[in-house]
Amino acid sequence: MKGDSSVDANGSGPLGRGDGTRVVHAGVPAAVAGEPFLPSPVFGAPYHLDPVAGPQAGVDGYGRSDNRTYRSLEKAIGDLEGGECVVFASGMAAITAVLLATLRAGDAVVLPSDGYYLTRAFAGEHLPGRGVEVRTMPTSGPYPALDDVRLLLLETPSNPGLDVCDIADLAARAHAGGGLVAVDNTTPTPLGQRPLDLGADFSVASATKALTGHSDMLLGYVCARDPQLIETIRTWRARTGGIPGAFEAWLAHRSLGTLDLRLARQTANAAAVTELLADHPAVASVRWPGRAGDPAYEAAARQMRRIPGVVTFVLADKGAVDRFLGASELVFAATSFGGLHSSADRRAQWGDDAPEGLVRFSCGVEDTEDLLADVRRALDAALS
Ligand SMILES: Cc1ncc(COP(=O)(O)O)c(C=O)c1O
Repeated sequence: MKGDSSVDANGSGPLGRGDGTRVVHAGVPAAVAGEPFLPSPVFGAPYHLDPVAGPQAGVDGYGRSDNRTYRSLEKAIGDLEGGECVVFASGMAAITAVLLATLRAGDAVVLPSDGYYLTRAFAGEHLPGRGVEVRTMPTSGPYPALDDVRLLLLETPSNPGLDVCDIADLAARAHAGGGLVAVDNTTPTPLGQRPLDLGADFSVASATKALTGHSDMLLGYVCARDPQLIETIRTWRARTGGIPGAFEAWLAHRSLGTLDLRLARQTANAAAVTELLADHPAVASVRWPGRAGDPAYEAAARQMRRIPGVVTFVLADKGAVDRFLGASELVFAATSFGGLHSSADRRAQWGDDAPEGLVRFSCGVEDTEDLLADVRRALDAALS
């Protein structure tokens, strides 16, 4: 089965293959002598047409809808998520595709009140004028009635608070009223959580974060199992043009091969950093769904295959965060997460409804002991 990366509903390969094997082989074509393992990027805008037959089904005609490099990445991500995949130029291009392609005047959409702030901002700015009612609910509940909702968008763990909701339970409630359910799977990646297996209609994500993991590109995707839903999204992309560049798609596919290794180190670092944070006097509170006693621990343990390397903690104020970042030699100040390099972001500076000293900390793949020593020194400086 060389080159075949199909997976069963539990996310393990047909021969019980593990995550490391699956990401290395995902979307990689069967071996052909003389060919590279991963085909090189195809940079076509128009392709040659048959001068007589003109456009033909199954033959690439124009780059906004047809590109072998996207298709190969889509095969890889689709296999990992357990559905069909459509890639986009960014996570926001993917999320807005789901919102705009599924919602019509008279519909209601429910978004997380504590999820990625730009999703809420986009919805607030653009949906009411189109006749769509925008509602919000907290990821950890309490939940409103969902039986009159056209689309329920969940984000679990939520960003940056790291609360977790029960996807299967909420999907059942929304489906009972005929609604659709989308899950923003950015933070866990498909190795951490497979929303389509849990009843979601869409798994949507920013692949800018851990999925590609090198902080060198923007990318997004939408996955679905229903052929009509995925066709709606594919058509939306072909009409609106939010496609990634072929080079980014190729680079993303190349980066995917190390996802298992990167996540394993990030999670191990997060576990160690969380314990350090929990015991340090500079830290008022810490959240990580992998830590026993965390409010999200039990739900995460039930639902997730792995816990991501993102930890959220609170220091006294902005000054303490400034001192923390100033003293650290390994932690970059940056507003992203899931990359090779540890990074930290004070979320209030972006307008999140969060305490001034709240830090979203993304553990990179540095050696655990080095990271712990650096974070300990930086926390000591935050106190002074
Ligand atoms: C949970 C989540 N969803 C979506 C996005 C948007 O992704 P992108 O920056 O690739 O557009 C982000 C970006 O930070 C995010 O954190």
